[in-house]
Amino acid sequence: MHSLEKLRWIIDREIEKMDFAGRQPAELYSPVEYILSNGGKRLRPVLALMSCRLFTHDLTECVKPAAAIELFHNFTLLHDDIMDQADMRRGKPAVHKKWNENTAILSGDAMVVLSFNLISSAKPEILPGLLSVFNTTALEVCEGQQMDMNFETNPNVKENEYLEMIKLKTSVLIAAAMKIGAISARANDRDCELMYESGLNLGLAFQLQDDILDLYGKQEDFGKIRGGDILMNKKTILLIKALELADQTTAVSIRRLMNEEQDPGMKVGEMKKILDRLEINLIAWKMAEGYFNKAIRKLYETNSDKAQKNEFADFIHSVMNRKS
Ligand code: IPE
Ligand code: IPE
Ligand code: MG
Ligand code: MG
Ligand code: MG
Repeated sequence: MHSLEKLRWIIDREIEKMDFAGRQPAELYSPVEYILSNGGKRLRPVLALMSCRLFTHDLTECVKPAAAIELFHNFTLLHDDIMDQADMRRGKPAVHKKWNENTAILSGDAMVVLSFNLISSAKPEILPGLLSVFNTTALEVCEGQQMDMNFETNPNVKENEYLEMIKLKTSVLIAAAMKIGAISARANDRDCELMYESGLNLGLAFQLQDDILDLYGKQEDFGKIRGGDILMNKKTILLIKALELADQTTAVSIRRLMNEEQDPGMKVGEMKKILDRLEINLIAWKMAEGYFNKAIRKLYETNSDKAQKNEFADFIHSVMNRKS
C-alpha cells in the first residue's frame, strides 16, 4: 500500500473502531457516522502521523490523538455549515440539511467530547503536552469562527485582521496536528515548535486556497456550493484584495453588490466578473504559495529524518495542487 494511503487507512480504522453506526440513540450518532464516512481528505490526522514519522518509526501513540483531531475538525464543520448557511459538504447535503440544525448542533457537541476522550487516553508522559495544545487550539478555533462571523457585517476588514482570523479558525488546528504528532514521537521542544510553526504557515496557505477554491474550484471536486462565501459577504482574501486594489468606481460596485438584496446567481456572477478583471485569484495564489514555501522551510529546519522530510514536503506539494 502506498505510504499516504496507509496513513489514511490507519485513521479510518481507528474511526471505524468507534462504531458510530451501532451506537444509540441513532439520532445522535447517525449524523456522526454520516459526516465521518463521507470522505474528506483526512488532512489533519495524516499531517499528525507524518509529523510523528519524522521522529520515530512507531506511530502507535499518535493514532488516537490524530483521530481526535479529525473528530474535532468534523465537529467544526457541522457547526460551521449552520453558521455559514452552507447546504452542501463533501458533495452531499450538510448534516443540518439532511437532518436539522438541532441535530447538527448536538451531534457536533458529541464529537467534541469524543475528541477529548481520545486525547485523554494518551500516556501520562505526553498527556499534559497534548492536552495543553488541544485545549488552547479548541478555544482559538471558536475565537476565529466568531471573528469570521463578525466580519460578515464589517465592510472594512483589513488584510492583517483577516490573517489573524484565518490563523485562528484554520491554521492553529493544522499546526496543532503537526505539533501533536511531534509530541507523540517524543520530539524535543525545539522540533515540536518548528512543526507548529510549519503548520501555522501551511494552515494560512490552506485557508487562502479554500477561499480561492470557493469561487474558482469545480463544485463536483470541491463539494461545496460555488460562491458560498460571496453570498454570505465573507471577508475572504479575494474580497479584501479586491477592495484594496479597486479604483473608486469598482469599489463602489463591490460594496453595492455586498449591501443590496440580490439574486444569488447574479450576485456571485457580478462579483466574479470584478474579481476576474482585477486578477485577484493570481494575487491570492501568490500569497498562498509564499506560506506553503515557508511551511516547507520550517519543516526542513527540524532535526529529523531526511527521507521522511522529503516525503512530507512532497505531501505539502500535493496539498498545493489540490482540487478538493
Ligand atoms: C475544510 O477543511 C475547512 C477548512 C478549514 C477550510 P478541509 O478542506 O480539510 O475539509 P475535508 O475534511 O477535507 O472535507
Ligand atoms: C473554515 O472556514 C473554518 C472552520 C470550519 C473552522 P470555512 O467556512 O471557509 O470552511 P468551509 O469552506 O465551509 O469548509
Ligand atoms: Mg464554511
Ligand atoms: Mg465558516
Ligand atoms: Mg471556505
